[in-house]
Amino acid sequence: MKKHLVEVCIGTSCHLMGAQDLIRAVQGLPGEKLNSIQLKTVPCLKSCDKSPAVRINGQIFAPITPEELIKKIT
Ligand code: FES
Repeated sequence: MKKHLVEVCIGTSCHLMGAQDLIRAVQGLPGEKLNSIQLKTVPCLKSCDKSPAVRINGQIFAPITPEELIKKIT
């Protein structure tokens, strides 16, 4: 299975706009799905005006909701 690299921005703006909810959503996935994901936190992705921002396999998505994030990686 292809491993997704999910980088959640935890810069100030994204933190205020719900970055923790994105992280919690990913961590709440069932084990076999979680195994196919490499979750990292990163500093500002330079998309603060559209926070919260996530980079998935090198591509930035902002703003993004927890539901949209889960849809993209499962
Ligand atoms: S703080 Fe997240 S993009 Fe800048």
